[in-house]
Amino acid sequence: MKAVIVYDSAYGNTKAIAEAVASGLGSANARTVPAAQFRRGDVSAGDLLVVGSPINGWRPTPKTMQALTDVGTQGLSGILAAAFDTRVKLFIHGDAAKKISHQLKKAGATLVSKPMPFYVGGTEGPLLAGETERARTWGGELLTLMKTKATKRSA
Ligand SMILES: Cc1cc2nc3c(=O)[nH]c(=O)nc-3n(C[C@H](O)[C@H](O)[C@H](O)COP(=O)(O)O)c2cc1C
Repeated sequence: MKAVIVYDSAYGNTKAIAEAVASGLGSANARTVPAAQFRRGDVSAGDLLVVGSPINGWRPTPKTMQALTDVGTQGLSGILAAAFDTRVKLFIHGDAAKKISHQLKKAGATLVSKPMPFYVGGTEGPLLAGETERARTWGGELLTLMKTKATKRSA
């Protein structure tokens, strides 16, 4: 049972959130992987895959979507999954985490969390105060959900 956090990031904000989520998931052997380097073989049944992207033009980045389509039809069957994005606090900001969640589900993954947004102050950041801590806390919650699912599988 391990956790892989896949991310794309132009200015480092989404990467910082990915690392904070990994830190919250600590005891699950969590590691971060840039989207362009992710391969289907990086996760096995029962593992948790967390995917994060900045919102770019109302949607996830092309590298994020490419990583998800590369796994193929039902390629994430048996995998637990969750998605996050980083975004600017605007009235109309679009969505990436929801679109990633949809794609994860389409690939057969079991979603364990609602799509999670994290906020930056502008295009290059910085992350708003408290967001890194919130990401670490969310990682801790994902760890609990992962353990609960693992217990159910072995029962
Ligand atoms: C080309 C481009 C398009 C963007 N479009 C949006 C958008 O539609 N909605 C939004 O909330 N933020 C938008 N942003 C701001 C990004 O969300 C912000 O740059 C990102 O969260 C920073 O993360 P990163 O440091 O990991 O790249 C855009 C940024 C860029 C560069």
